[in-house]
Amino acid sequence: MRTAVFDSGVGGLTVVKSLLEHSLFDEIIYYGDTARVPYGTKDPNTIIRYSLEALEFFNNFEIDLLIVACNTASAHAIDELRRKASFDVLGVIEPGVLALENRRVRKEDPVLVIGTRATINSKSYQNLLARRGYTNIQAVAAPLLVPLVEEGILEGVIVEESFKRYFDHLVPPKAVIMGCTHYPLMQEALGRYFNGAELVHSGEAIVEYLRKNGCESSGKETVMRFFASENVARLKQVASGWFQKEIL
Ligand code: DGL
Repeated sequence: MRTAVFDSGVGGLTVVKSLLEHSLFDEIIYYGDTARVPYGTKDPNTIIRYSLEALEFFNNFEIDLLIVACNTASAHAIDELRRKASFDVLGVIEPGVLALENRRVRKEDPVLVIGTRATINSKSYQNLLARRGYTNIQAVAAPLLVPLVEEGILEGVIVEESFKRYFDHLVPPKAVIMGCTHYPLMQEALGRYFNGAELVHSGEAIVEYLRKNGCESSGKETVMRFFASENVARLKQVASGWFQKEIL
């Protein structure tokens, strides 16, 4: 099976990493809109327009499924993408919320969603959580964490101070949905800060969702193809670092 993965930039590689670990696909075509990242600061119409342009790119390939790894695009553009695409489109919001049901979290426990400003403002996570019966939902935009991850700053004083600024006033959550592609790279620091809360990673949530819906491991190594709207060399360099293998 051939799938495409779309993200606003390099962050969606965290989702690809999970897909690769479980060998769910024969081939993955990744496209990062690196020329126009970040999406998280843009307004909804712009996010929809950029996402539909990415869809046009994917129309050049015969794919079975498009995974929208970008939370911001999933939050704003999933309906438009589904309307226009000739293949299945899966975003990260629904799998992320459903993944909570496999964790030790009760419906009345405090659940925190963190993401870009556009993701949090869309209320996509909050609305779906409420529809699934969660009653204690907090949502915080933590945009500063994105450039920190891009700079490779994953822990230490700046990270701790940013966490304090964003999260100190909250009711301590039992579960945190890391609703941004970049946050899983800070998972260790987030885990320490939230002191053992369940952390939901979009990549793992997508894998759980796909498996539940009959997608099985191919057992073979996945063929990867990388594309970007600018500087594909940097995308490949980041992928080599994150996947710990050379990508040419
Ligand atoms: N990929 C985006 C997301 O998951 C984060 C970076 C951006 O703002 O574009 O929401």
